[in-house]
Amino acid sequence: MRLFVAICLSDGMKDALLDAQNALYDRGVRGRFTPEENMHLTLAFIGDYPEAGPVLEALSGLAFSPFELTLEGLGCFGDLWWAGLKGSAPLEALARRVRRALAEAEIPFDRKRFSPHVTLLRKAKGAVPPLRLQSAEMTVEAFTLMRSDRGKNGMLYTELGTVEAEQR
Ligand code: 2AM
Repeated sequence: MRLFVAICLSDGMKDALLDAQNALYDRGVRGRFTPEENMHLTLAFIGDYPEAGPVLEALSGLAFSPFELTLEGLGCFGDLWWAGLKGSAPLEALARRVRRALAEAEIPFDRKRFSPHVTLLRKAKGAVPPLRLQSAEMTVEAFTLMRSDRGKNGMLYTELGTVEAEQR
C-alpha cells in the first residue's frame, strides 16, 4: 500500500484554499483541482510499504506540543499550483522528528527536503495572474498516517491512524 504522513487541515484553512482555487478558476485557469477532502500537508512520503502497523508503531511514541500553522502565499512550479505554509520551528521540528522515527524503524521514505505546501491544482493551463491568498491559521493538534489509492475519479486518501499532540 502507498503511505504518507500528513497534517490534516482545519475547515477554516480549507475554506481559504477553496477560495484560492475559485479565484484561479475565475481568472481562467483550468486543470485538475485538488478536491477539498484531499487537501493536506505532507510531512513525509513513504510510498509503497507492505503494512501500516510498524509505521504507526514507529510514529506513536512521538510526543509534540500543539502549534500554529499559517498560510503564507500561492506559488506555482511548472503546471502545479500550491499554497505555501509559513516555515516555523515547531513545524520543521515535527517533520524532522517524523522522518527520524521512520529512519530509526528502517521504514524508507522520500528524502527530498521538506517543503511545506498544499497542492491546489495539477496540470494547470491558462494565464498566471497575480493572486493574493486569504489569510488563515490553524492549531496543529495531530498528524496522521494516510493511505493513498488511485480511484476512478482521482486519488482516494484514507486515514489509518493519528498521533495526537500532548495536552498543554
Ligand atoms: P504533492 O502534492 O506535492 O505531489 C501524497 O501523494 C502526498 O505525498 C502529496 O501531498 C504529495 O505531494 C506527497 N509526496 C511527496 N513526495 C512524493 C513522491 N515522491 N511521490 C508522490 N507523492 C509525494
